[in-house]
This record gives sequence, structure tokens and C-alpha cells, in this order.
Amino acid sequence: MCSVLIVYASRYGATATAAGRLANLLEENQDTRVLLSEMAHVEPAQLQAADLIVIGGPIYAGRIVADVPRFCDSQRETLLRSRVGLFISCLYEGDQARTQLGMAYPQWLQQHACAQADLGGAVKLRRLKFVDRFLMHSVAKVREDVDRIRMDAVSGFAAELRACLER
Ligand SMILES: Cc1cc2nc3c(=O)[nH]c(=O)nc-3n(C[C@H](O)[C@H](O)[C@H](O)COP(=O)(O)O)c2cc1C
Repeated sequence: MCSVLIVYASRYGATATAAGRLANLLEENQDTRVLLSEMAHVEPAQLQAADLIVIGGPIYAGRIVADVPRFCDSQRETLLRSRVGLFISCLYEGDQARTQLGMAYPQWLQQHACAQADLGGAVKLRRLKFVDRFLMHSVAKVREDVDRIRMDAVSGFAAELRACLER
């Protein structure tokens, strides 16, 4: 039995949704047990017990939310002893998303990670705080809810993570 811990930060729920979809795919393998945890609530014992730690967070104004690099730095020794996968949730695609992914995690962790992915993102306008809704309307021109969490990316990432577990 393999145990996978998915630790995520999420402001409005999209990264949590992507993490949940990833967990469902990984659990299709009956030998894999997946624990999902918000970054703020993860316990050291959960990190120690995992065969693979997957870390995810959303991108705002080009950067991953600050909780994520803070968490990575605080758990540096544990992460370097573990298999690690990294993902972001964002609305940009292609080169812009790749650039955001390349800047999201500390270099030492990117070099150590066995898989990295951009899983796409989602926005539910009514959930956003006023200032974020304003930015979505006026800067990003997003005028209605979008769900661009890409299941092809989630399933490709799940396959890479399974390969990590077999190494
Ligand atoms: C105010 C605001 C700024 C955003 N900035 C970016 C950005 O710079 N690049 C991007 O790809 N997506 C951006 N997004 C989209 C989010 O990354 C995406 O909706 C993500 O799925 C949100 O995840 P969460 O609900 O877990 O916080 C932004 C969204 C909001 C509301």
C-alpha cells in the first residue's frame, strides 16, 4: 500500500477542487491511499508518513500564494527526503502558465521534484472578494464563471506521480 499526501493552499476553492480530482484518479489504483490536507492544517506526522507528497497552490498576479513557498521552506528537510510532486492552479495556459509554474516553487524543490504540472484553474465570480471580482472584470475581462481545470492535465500528472511511486 502506498500513501500519497496532497497538501494544497486555495483562496476560493479551485485548487482544492483540482486536488480532489487528482486524489480520485490516484485512488483508482487500489494500492494507493490518498490523504488531502489544507496546507494550514497539515501535521508533521502526515508528512513523515507519506510515500509521496504533492504540493499545490493557486497563482494570483503571476505568483503563487505566499503560504506555499513559506510551507516549502519550513519543511525543506522533510521534502528533500521524500518523493515530491508540484502543481499550480491558474487560468493562463501554454507558455504563460509554464513561466508561472517555473517561478512558483523554490529552485531547490523544483530540481528535487519528480513531477510538476499546471492543472488549470477556475473562478466563481460570486465567491470573490470585491477587489478580486473587480480585477477579474476589468483586467482579465472575465465576466462569467469559468472552469478550466484540465482533466487531461490532471490525468497526465496522476500518471507521472504513479511513475514516481514506482521508482
Ligand atoms: C484577482 C485574481 C488574480 C489572478 N491572477 C492570475 C494570474 O496572474 N495568472 C493566472 O494564470 N491566473 C490568475 N488568476 C486565476 C487563478 O489562479 C485561478 O482562478 C485559480 O484556479 C484560483 O485558485 P483558488 O480558487 O484555489 O484560489 C487570478 C484570479 C484572481 C481572482
